[in-house]
Amino acid sequence: MKSTIQQGPILNETASLVAIGICENESPGAPIEALLEAGDFCGKAREMALLYPRGALPARRVLLVGMGKRSDLTLDTVRQAAARAAQEAQRLKVADIALALPVPETVSTASGAQAMVEGAELGTYRYLEYQSSPKPEETHQIETLRIVMEANQDLEAARRGAAAGEAIARGVVLARDLCNTPGNHLTPTRLGEIAQDIGARCGFSVAVFGREELEQQGFGGLLAVSRGSAEPPRFIILDYPGDSCQKDKPDRDQETLPTICLVGKGITFDTGGISIKPAANMDDMKMDMGGAAAVLGTLQVVSELRLPLRVVGLISAAENMPGASAYKPGDIITTLSGKTIEVLNTDAEGRIVLADALFYAHRYHPRALIDVATLTGAITIALGPHAIGMMGNHQPLADRFIQAGEATGERVWPLPLWEEYREMMKSEIADLKNIGGREAGSITAAAFLLAFVGDYPWVHLDIAGTVWMEKPSRMYYGKTKGVTGVGVRLLAQVLRDWTDF
Ligand code: BES
Ligand code: MN
Ligand code: ZN
Repeated sequence: MKSTIQQGPILNETASLVAIGICENESPGAPIEALLEAGDFCGKAREMALLYPRGALPARRVLLVGMGKRSDLTLDTVRQAAARAAQEAQRLKVADIALALPVPETVSTASGAQAMVEGAELGTYRYLEYQSSPKPEETHQIETLRIVMEANQDLEAARRGAAAGEAIARGVVLARDLCNTPGNHLTPTRLGEIAQDIGARCGFSVAVFGREELEQQGFGGLLAVSRGSAEPPRFIILDYPGDSCQKDKPDRDQETLPTICLVGKGITFDTGGISIKPAANMDDMKMDMGGAAAVLGTLQVVSELRLPLRVVGLISAAENMPGASAYKPGDIITTLSGKTIEVLNTDAEGRIVLADALFYAHRYHPRALIDVATLTGAITIALGPHAIGMMGNHQPLADRFIQAGEATGERVWPLPLWEEYREMMKSEIADLKNIGGREAGSITAAAFLLAFVGDYPWVHLDIAGTVWMEKPSRMYYGKTKGVTGVGVRLLAQVLRDWTDF
């Protein structure tokens, strides 16, 4: 889909589908009212009407998209309306859409256009990689999306916003594709190769450590988790140096760009290991690399947008299997940091591989350390599919995520990390144990991570509840159950808005 920006009026458009967002109880204009039976369409959220003007207007089809009350408009309403319009275009197999949507008064023209592009691109996402003969309506591609702006709007700003929206949507699609790829196809080795391809294409450097290198350096956590699998682990380092020309002061040299480290959990399949999971829904555990996918997607976005920050992505990739050499309950392992872990449940593997990655991040002296992980089933119990669980050690950093969550619709919700929770992770025979009991499962997992964070400002995002939806809660998650690519838009927003503390 190629998006363009132009000036209205929308009713002069000739696209195969002209989609117009209408707020509740506002008039769609006289020519359209003449086509409607009074009361059939009021502009309520999720309401839709498809009209065939038959010469009464230049357009062949007009789609009215209900936006709800104007006072309730948010960027997410815009994203969802664009998604619905694009889904209709896909269903009708039309190649070009013209789209005009009202945006909240408080947002910039650029963000409005960005939201429209994101909604249209993400709402029509499909994963068809392994279907030999997909249905024609599934393969149909929309060629052009013409965003039609009102006369007083800044077209250049809208163009910039649309371009950012394209880049961000591509990052989310990358993350979704990775989450959808089954464990036999997306192994840690393959994830490393994909990272190298993306780095080569986007112009940032990528290093991948294999078993030998990990042994030399002492990645005891990542190695222990991978031991039960025939697939060797990988530690993947993505290093985007930052575009110093983008900064207000062009003479500022690269050395002084702040460094942000993004750490991703990359368990390409989680059987639970020796503490094996029940059979029901175990296939979902191919998504246990959703954090790694979000990190890769974000690195692609920040490099395409040439952000003036150094962003380092660190991914611990392994397969958690109960093979003959698997790590066992009761084992004590020594992590990269030197801290020892008493393994009481091999299914609490994410925190163990993250321990090494978080400690490795110290060498970059990051201004902020952010990890993204499908870490605990307990976060779904706490928040359902509607928020990312957030824990950390730095309120100003956490506040940025709350703000970015509101702006992107990828909302985060804080949980406490008091000293008492850290107590729950102390072992009698090692420095830490890897489970803390049934209570406060998401928090004790984060308390474990905190032991490897050092003094760096840190936020932990538990995306286990949001990486996948049984019933999509937003139109841009598609019409059926599936993966969300969660994290990319949130992280991209925080990084685009970055200012030093
Ligand atoms: N990958 C899982 C968490 C998960 C659960 C992700 C459901 C997505 C959906 C993680 O490795 C895990 O197994 N966590 C255990 C921790 C427990 C053993 C303390 C869990 O949540 O049950
Ligand atoms: Mn597990
Ligand atoms: Zn896991």
